[in-house]
Amino acid sequence: MAAISTVGLTKAYGDKAVLKGVDLEIPEGSVFALLGPNGAGKTTTVEILSTLIPADGGAARVAGHDVVREADAVRAAIGVTGQFSAVDNLLTAEENLMLMSDLNHLRRREGRRRAEELLRRFDLTEAARKPVTTFSGGMRRKLDLAMTLVGDPRVIFLDEPTTGLDPRSRRTMWEIIRGLAADHGVTIFLTTQYLEEADQLADRIAVLDGGRIVAEGTAEELKRIVPGGRIRVQFADAGQLDAAAALFGYATADPEALGLDIPGDNSVLTVKAVLDALDNASVRAESLVVETADLDDVFLTLTGEGAR
Ligand SMILES: Nc1ncnc2c1ncn2[C@@H]1O[C@H](COP(=O)(O)OP(=O)(O)OP(=O)(O)O)[C@@H](O)[C@H]1O
Ligand SMILES: [Mg+2]
Repeated sequence: MAAISTVGLTKAYGDKAVLKGVDLEIPEGSVFALLGPNGAGKTTTVEILSTLIPADGGAARVAGHDVVREADAVRAAIGVTGQFSAVDNLLTAEENLMLMSDLNHLRRREGRRRAEELLRRFDLTEAARKPVTTFSGGMRRKLDLAMTLVGDPRVIFLDEPTTGLDPRSRRTMWEIIRGLAADHGVTIFLTTQYLEEADQLADRIAVLDGGRIVAEGTAEELKRIVPGGRIRVQFADAGQLDAAAALFGYATADPEALGLDIPGDNSVLTVKAVLDALDNASVRAESLVVETADLDDVFLTLTGEGAR
């Protein structure tokens, strides 16, 4: 069963069409990432699916309910961590969690139990009684997600969950998100600017641009649709680089880094052909790296003015 499905979702602000017909189908228990440049409509999509704003056209179902006709049922089943923190700075971590527990109509004792468990899970027990003003960005983000989990949601929307986090905090967050899907069967809908994040976390990825989904698939499938494989050869000086560039007419030289990017795959034959050509011309290379297409290539190829 699909945890989230949309058909022909449209939304405009004034005469600016933001969503021009978005179709999505997200299976239960999976992690889905929505990618897109700034202003693409990612937050707008999250807001529509979480019943915060209405769409102009089309239909959406979340956790088996229509987001307009059964908005209350949808709200009862979901948790939302917005792009901007919902944490109250004047309260302690524990008080923030208890506030959420009240909003979710949990009994006092059940609320305390849940708050304690979440503080432990997110490694915030020591900071539980401290005001959030003293928290780092990473701690705040973790508390934000913990607050989303108080109501035990089946579907979670995370709008840029790791923006501004250092690499270690980001990894901690990824572990938590993975665990929610893998161990608790929660469906995760996340938006992100970090393509590595989508690559690491998401079962499926959709790229939103110009109001439409321009590509959808697993990270591997998306990488396959753009040519991005290259062999980067490094030289000791500009003379060697120029000599090499002359051998491979279709390559791109980076004079500052003394590198040459030669389009090609990672097969031994291709790499050997490059090395043989250099050798035959007595050009000396220092080092070589084979890079396959990554999601950055996918993103840059599919989105923005260039793509249109
Ligand atoms: N309340 C609003 N009133 C008018 N325009 C809005 C409103 N909310 C969003 N927009 C516009 O809708 C478009 C999509 O915004 P949205 O916040 O959904 O983008 P986003 O993909 O989340 O971008 P970002 O990556 O910067 O978070 C933008 O052009 C934005 O200016
Ligand atoms: Mg946004």
